[in-house]
Amino acid sequence: MAGKRLRVAVLASGRGSNLQSLLDACAAEEFPASIALVIVNIPGAKAIDRARSAGVPVAVIDHKAFASREAFDAAIDRELQAASIGVVCLAGFMRLLTPGFVRTWAGRLINIHPSLLPDFPGLDTHRRALDSGSTEHGCTVHYVIAELDAGPIIAQAKVPVMPGDDEEALAARVLAEEHRLYPQALRLIAEGKVRMVEGRVLVEGQPASGAG
Ligand code: GRF
Repeated sequence: MAGKRLRVAVLASGRGSNLQSLLDACAAEEFPASIALVIVNIPGAKAIDRARSAGVPVAVIDHKAFASREAFDAAIDRELQAASIGVVCLAGFMRLLTPGFVRTWAGRLINIHPSLLPDFPGLDTHRRALDSGSTEHGCTVHYVIAELDAGPIIAQAKVPVMPGDDEEALAARVLAEEHRLYPQALRLIAEGKVRMVEGRVLVEGQPASGAG
C-alpha cells in the first residue's frame, strides 16, 4: 500500500509552516501522498530543520550559486527527477520559476497563495486586503502556470476581515486556513479527484472551471 502513495516534493524558502502542515498530513499512513523530498533555496532556512526532523531528504540549492534562472531550475529539476517525484508543492518558495520548468511540470506543480485569487496576486496580500476595505480574505491553492499566481484554482478558504484587524492578525487567521487547505487539496490530487486538463481544473463530479 505504502508503495502506491504519490511521491511529493515541497519547495520552500523560509519559515516552512505550510511545509510542516504537509509533513504532518503525510505522516498519517492512510494519507495518499508522501513527502519524498524537500528543496530549500535559502541556506539556514527553518524549513530545512522541519524536513530533517521529519526524516525527509532535503536538498539545499542556493539560487545564488547559479548564473541564470534556467541553470537554477535545471538543478531543481534534476533533484525532482532523481527522486521520481510525481507532484511538486510550492510552499512559500520565493523564486519565480522559468516558463521551461513550469511547462515540464504542468499539471503536477501547485502553489498556495495567501489571498482569494484572482484578488491580490504577488506580495503583501494582507496589507492590500486591509487597504482595499474587503470584508473577506483567504487563501488559494492553484496549479502553477508561467504567469504569476494566475493558474487554475483547485481550492479556496475564506476568512472574515474583522474590525480592528492589523496585518499580523489577518495573516494569522489566513495561515490557519492555509494549513488546513493545502493538505486537503493535495489529498484530492493524490486520489485522482482533481486534475488539470487543457488549462482547466477538473474536479470529480463537477463541471470544469477555468483559470483564476
Ligand atoms: C504563506 O503565507 C504562503 O501562502 C505564502 O508564503 C507564506 C509562507 O509561509 N506563499 P510558510 O513558509 O509556509 O510558513
